Amino acid sequence: MIKFLNIGKQDAKIKNSIVKDIKKIISKNNFILGEEVYNFEKSFAKFCNANYAISCANGTDALTIALKILNLPKNSEVIIPAMTYCSTAFSVINAGLKPILVDLEKNKPTICIKEIKKKITSKTKVIMPVHLYGSVVDINEIKKIIKNKKIFIIDDCSQAHGSKLDNKRVGSLADISCFSLYPGKNLGAYGDAGIITTNNIKFFKKIKNFRNLGSDKKFIHTQIGFNSRLDTIQAVVLTHKLKNLEKYNKKRSVIAKYYDENINNDKIKKLNYSKQSVYHQYVILIKNRIKLKKLLEKNKIQYGFHYPQSINQLDCLKKNFKNKKFKYAENIANNCLSLPIDPTLNIEDIKRIVSVLNSF
Ligand SMILES: Cc1ncc(COP(=O)(O)O)c(C=O)c1O
Repeated sequence: MIKFLNIGKQDAKIKNSIVKDIKKIISKNNFILGEEVYNFEKSFAKFCNANYAISCANGTDALTIALKILNLPKNSEVIIPAMTYCSTAFSVINAGLKPILVDLEKNKPTICIKEIKKKITSKTKVIMPVHLYGSVVDINEIKKIIKNKKIFIIDDCSQAHGSKLDNKRVGSLADISCFSLYPGKNLGAYGDAGIITTNNIKFFKKIKNFRNLGSDKKFIHTQIGFNSRLDTIQAVVLTHKLKNLEKYNKKRSVIAKYYDENINNDKIKKLNYSKQSVYHQYVILIKNRIKLKKLLEKNKIQYGFHYPQSINQLDCLKKNFKNKKFKYAENIANNCLSLPIDPTLNIEDIKRIVSVLNSF
């Protein structure tokens, strides 16, 4: 079986050190926040070349917190791509704001910047691009569109730990950057986790206070915040795993390059990723997805779908976007299939995947 994701194999060499450090935490009886969490936050900020990092319970909370601390008027508009994970849209709605969908750019997995410009109104307060599959949105182009309007950029970096734009790491490009640290991400915990980065000290202080029930000092609550803290045990796991991130991102790029160069089948369309993507997913588009699915299953090759529905097609949001079409986002939803791109895959596995795809 060629596995889609193999966290056990990724972590084999660091497993003993992780277990040793978890045992220390248990002996210390220290399970929430603490020195290990602050050390991880510092290491992650350094990795992103950002001034500050604040951990939290998951990526959905990271996005919601980033929006809530801006204290925007109710129903302010937030521009998001029509193809992303549901959390991007849910965070906007749960923060009392209105998601405005923008289609993707042709042949790319990311938001169309020209279309963003058309959707900006006097109510637009935030643009929330998503670096989907690890492919980076050109934040500098978005900044040019905003000019001196008071619009914030919060980027959803949940699939792009380590991706770069003009040699600058994601996490240092926007006003606030939000990451999921869900187990299957390029950097993932052994449970739910998330982290937010920023260069703005005011945002840093507000976010740090908000994720701890609005409190800097015990029993003093200055904001109606969330209980969204990182477990100490997860911080220990993440500190170890962060050391492997660059190495594994490089392996993902090597696999992606092999797919780019060797999948040669007119029935399979490839997407254009940004230059310094970290390939969280390698997504192909295929008209007869069910038939390809069967062929992969027969050959014991696991696969995924990211995502089978665009935001306007989600059951709970259909009514909000009635009569709206998002051609490129819907094309990905209807035809996408994610190939294995786990960094521990070996060349024989990758060759076998390519040969099965080329025989389709
Ligand atoms: C693009 C995107 N945004 C947000 C999230 C939400 O993160 P989490 O599952 O940690 O809440 C995810 C992860 O699944 C994601 O891929």
